[in-house]
Amino acid sequence: MTDLHLSLDRSAGRLAAQIAAGFRAAVRSGRLTAGTRLPSSRDLARDLDVSRGVVVTAYEQLTAEGFLIARRGDGTRIAPLARPDEGAGPPPRPPARPAEPRAEPAVLYDLSPGQPDLSAFPRERWIAAARAALRTLPHDALAYPDPAGVPDLRAELASYLGRVRAAHADPGRIAIMNGVAQGLSGLLGQLRADGHTALAVEDPTSVRQLPMLAAAGVRTVRVPVDEEGLDVAALARTQARAVLVTPAHQYPTGVVLSPARRAALIAWARDADGVILEDDYDAEFRYDRDPVGCLQGVDPDRVVLLGSVSKSLAPALRLGWALAPPFLAEGLREHRTHTDLGAPVLEQYALTEFLRGGGYDRHLRTMRRRYRARRDALAGALAENLPGARVHGVSAGIHLYVELPGGCDEDEVVERAARAGVSVAGARAMWSPRRAEDAPPALVLGYAALPEPRLVKAAQLLGQAVAHGGGG
Ligand SMILES: Cc1ncc(COP(=O)(O)O)c(C=O)c1O
Repeated sequence: MTDLHLSLDRSAGRLAAQIAAGFRAAVRSGRLTAGTRLPSSRDLARDLDVSRGVVVTAYEQLTAEGFLIARRGDGTRIAPLARPDEGAGPPPRPPARPAEPRAEPAVLYDLSPGQPDLSAFPRERWIAAARAALRTLPHDALAYPDPAGVPDLRAELASYLGRVRAAHADPGRIAIMNGVAQGLSGLLGQLRADGHTALAVEDPTSVRQLPMLAAAGVRTVRVPVDEEGLDVAALARTQARAVLVTPAHQYPTGVVLSPARRAALIAWARDADGVILEDDYDAEFRYDRDPVGCLQGVDPDRVVLLGSVSKSLAPALRLGWALAPPFLAEGLREHRTHTDLGAPVLEQYALTEFLRGGGYDRHLRTMRRRYRARRDALAGALAENLPGARVHGVSAGIHLYVELPGGCDEDEVVERAARAGVSVAGARAMWSPRRAEDAPPALVLGYAALPEPRLVKAAQLLGQAVAHGGGG
């Protein structure tokens, strides 16, 4: 039988005993483990081409020996303590030593950046969207999908990105990717094949992305960010003809790329025959001003817009998109064809329904209100409890960049905060080693996941950590 790998010698007779021996051997070898559910006696009899009574006899024997447990409604399973016959198998393992108590302090207030409020995931509406999709999908839709993404989702996204991000959005230019991360690695492979040897990256930047970029085999060149965003003049002095930027809300400083710099960046791309990879990671969340349209809408033949639902819904969905010039969009389709044959289809259709039915817009409106209140609470509590700190990047996103008072030791503040139960990220690792030396000590604080009173309490504890970390 294929599943359980029980082989029977029919000429030898005693089929029930052979089946029982086969199960014992499988348990002994570790091939069948405690809790494994076995097929019903009827199914196994059919698979082995024996009478059902033979299997029932084998199961009864093994149950009597303690190998199997049969419970009404739960079928027959390998027993938790099923052991080989006495003396027939390996000696029982000594009981595991109790784990050492963990030295790390408990995280009571998690302000690490990058996480949306996962408790706000619209479960019911998502289920409704998934159910609606599944009810109406033709059977054919369950075949291998278009590797660039199902056409319905690309059409919905094109309409959404055009409306909300002022993108030049044509479904034919969209490739559905497993998040910005996969979009980036797929694009970098193509750029390398097209002769790009270097990628310019903002300084500071997301530390999570650096190893991904390294794995894609491109050399990164760091370009400073100042209060207007990426320093385009410095970019022009590098050899790079491709740049990865976060214009809507620079990660991590929160700076919005100024209008002059936007224009300069587009001009650079045209002069250098360059490509701009626009990471739009949290652009949905703008609080005090109208959203700035994406750069892609200004020059769709030079800019790739990368986005995902990781911050707007949940990173676990691994659903994102690249809106790219046709040759790169086609390259991404090929990339998926050659690597994984496309994204899971049911999730793509659920997101299609969610967009189409207005659920996505409604969810974003709710979250914008919620995050704005949280931002206000944290920014206010920081002003009170860390009066010497300078808070940046408040107008958008789901994190703040907090420059600590001069004289603070960033590592010590992070450490003291952790001991008080507050998990925060220090900013130094986000800077290039050269600029990290001069970068003021700073923290990057994600505020999306905590309600206001907890943010206020966390800020009080942070204030104490700073006071004892050289900033008091
Ligand atoms: C700035 C930035 N962009 C993009 C990503 C990746 O996002 P996604 O979940 O869409 O792959 C991250 C993840 O940490 C990030 O920090």
